[in-house]
Amino acid sequence: MSITRSVVRGCGSYLPARTLTNHELAGMVDTSDEWIVQRTGIRERHIAAAGEYTSDMAVHAAQGALAAAGLAPQDIDLIVLATATPDNTFPASAVAVQAKLGITSGAAFDLQAVCSGFVFALSTADSMLRAGDFKRALVIGSETFSRILDWKDRTTCVIFGDGAGAVVLEAQPQSGTKADRGVLGAKLRSDGRYKDKLYVDGGPSTTGTAGYLRMEGKEVFRHAVGMMTGAITDVLDATGTTAAEIDWFVPHQANQRIIDGCAHKLGVPSEKVISTVARHGNTSAASIPLALDTAVADGRIKPGDLVMIEAMGGGFTWGAALIRW
Ligand code: UT7
Repeated sequence: MSITRSVVRGCGSYLPARTLTNHELAGMVDTSDEWIVQRTGIRERHIAAAGEYTSDMAVHAAQGALAAAGLAPQDIDLIVLATATPDNTFPASAVAVQAKLGITSGAAFDLQAVCSGFVFALSTADSMLRAGDFKRALVIGSETFSRILDWKDRTTCVIFGDGAGAVVLEAQPQSGTKADRGVLGAKLRSDGRYKDKLYVDGGPSTTGTAGYLRMEGKEVFRHAVGMMTGAITDVLDATGTTAAEIDWFVPHQANQRIIDGCAHKLGVPSEKVISTVARHGNTSAASIPLALDTAVADGRIKPGDLVMIEAMGGGFTWGAALIRW
């Protein structure tokens, strides 16, 4: 039986030139390199330059993904940009990306699921490709969280960073088995009862300002491992796969302790876990495609490998997806 799958043709990523170390942060708020490393695993993060926007970073990542795929911008007919930090309230930053890439056909839109944004965007693009209306999608996560941080709040400003990552998905006929390449399954969840645990205290409809990120870190932490491993288990069950078959576990990069907790609960050994949190910090929707591109570039993730991605963030939103690279 032949079915349509969304196959990854290439990936790319971008980090702003400026790095901000824990030692520099210790000169700005009452914190220390030791506390940040011990509690999060983060050592440094990248910060966008003045005048460098979410759409600019998304374009760099998209160009990398297109080059890796051997495709031109005109080959793309769908752009889904996951971001919680758009250039403007509207239009979608995805249309800015579309215009900067010189694409004049197809559709482009933003998707807002905060740190789970890339998993939601990948699953959404996958559904649209499998429905047959689009042929090739750029799925991008791009964030400038530095612009919504309260730089006087040590409980949040040490955690987040800026960056972007992208993949090109292409609708291809496959056999319909789990040996296929492409997105094999995904599970998305949200529970708005937790919407005040991680949020931004502004917005166009409330304060008329962009606002600042607020987080009850301990509360987020308490739910993270259970929610994410629950979504992963659902994806494994739905695809008839076991955790032992996973070649690479590419989690959202929020906190090394959460990453280790998820891997341990699933029984995935640390050699199979891709971690970039030490160098990137938490880049929200960009963290997974940044980690994917890091592991593809250094030769760990190869075509045919089984890759599990997962994320959890504001909302709460959470989810997982299984991809045969
Ligand atoms: O990507 C979206 C999802 N977000 C997450 O997954 C984040 C999840 N949460 C976390 O990663 C952790 O909760 C944090 C890293 C944010 C915090 O770690 P924690 O182990 O939960 O620390 P805590 O909030 O319980 O704070 C412990 C202590 C407190 O002091 P007292 O009350 O024990 O005296 C804090 O005031 O650490 C203090 N503290 C700090 N000390 C130095 C909080 N932030 C800092 C800081 N430097 N930056």
